[in-house]
Amino acid sequence: MSRNVYLVTGGAGFIGSNYIHYLFEKYAQVKVINLDKLTYAGNPENLNDLKNNPDYVFIKGDICDSTIVNRIFEEFKPDYLINFAAESHVDRSIGDAEDFIRTDMYGVYVLLEATRKYGLERFIQISTDEVYGSIESGSFTEESPLKPGNPYSASKAGGDRLTYSYFNTYQLPVIITRASNNYGPYQYPEKLIPLFVTNAMEDKSLPLYGDGKNVRDWLYVKDHCKAIEFVLKNGELGEVYNIAGGSEKENIEITRLILELMDKPESLIKPVADRIGHDRRYSLDSSKLHQLGWQPQHSFDVAMRETVQWYVDHQDWWKPLKSGEYLEYYKKHYPEGKSLT
Ligand code: NAD
Ligand code: DAU
Repeated sequence: MSRNVYLVTGGAGFIGSNYIHYLFEKYAQVKVINLDKLTYAGNPENLNDLKNNPDYVFIKGDICDSTIVNRIFEEFKPDYLINFAAESHVDRSIGDAEDFIRTDMYGVYVLLEATRKYGLERFIQISTDEVYGSIESGSFTEESPLKPGNPYSASKAGGDRLTYSYFNTYQLPVIITRASNNYGPYQYPEKLIPLFVTNAMEDKSLPLYGDGKNVRDWLYVKDHCKAIEFVLKNGELGEVYNIAGGSEKENIEITRLILELMDKPESLIKPVADRIGHDRRYSLDSSKLHQLGWQPQHSFDVAMRETVQWYVDHQDWWKPLKSGEYLEYYKKHYPEGKSLT
């Protein structure tokens, strides 16, 4: 039986590394090429267990670099490309959008051009629910107009629509997914859940933006990985698929839950100035994917408990990340100390 070759870009980050683990758990025969620039968010430690596996190849490189991308296509002839590579943190995009435009738009162009030149079976662009913007009530379907509200989501919307244009113009075999907020192991501790869990563990304050009532729909990363693989195998070319967790929560609810699970006092909650242009609520209608046959399998309560426990058990993973570049970034953007004082 021939084995499939997956080119996973951005595979050293949070969702990409979970996806690579998922592939090796699911398939006895698979080859995975991970092309990752190793920005502050990329961490080869996430895949330490695979480093001696001959079917796993890590290549440090930039998706914006057509020379390296073309060489990978020539040498490994991937069947599938799943593009996770992105600048992914909204707060950073508000500080400086340049890398977001480069990677999340131009980088997608480079990958699409290589696909056009060499061909492959499926190109999956990992987009985001943020491209729709905020919604007060109801949920966005795949047909809803895009109205991204911050530089991160605008650059992702660019990559998303550019991918579609290569289907429409050149008949490239693309599929686009738009998922809601992920949580789980290996998430960089600048995002809400890992930041608050690790701060609570160190008895540091939890900086809650604005009134704490912004709503996000939480999707366990392992459910997301399964959904991506399901779409890759069953989705229709040129289509968009929403992937919702089905667990909408206000940030204050998440914050209280974390403190309760960790047996820490609510006095750690520190209301801070709101994020500029803060989207109030994200909500996805996932019925298109449900009709195709996918449902999330993990309950929020159980997966959240496991996630908190994972950070408790893996302090050696996140402690080094909350120093170095991370501290420099926070000192620059929050000179009075957002949370780390
Ligand atoms: P992450 O920031 O944890 O990881 C991004 C990875 O991409 C890192 O390993 C980084 O080194 C790599 N990377 C960045 N620029 C690169 C470049 N130019 N070339 C090669 N590699 C590069 O992000 P994540 O949370 O794992 O998100 C992965 C993807 O999923 C992103 O496209 C994001 O927009 C999308 N997404 C994320 C969520 C979420 O809740 N985290 C939800 C929906 C969609
Ligand atoms: O919705 C999908 C998106 O989810 C992905 O496309 C992004 O890559 C990912 O970063 C995430 O974006 P959010 O901005 O929703 O996630 P973040 O964890 O940064 O924030 C979640 C909510 O928590 C948001 O309303 C802002 C709030 N927040 C966040 C941080 C970091 C706080 O109140 N305090 C904080 O310190």
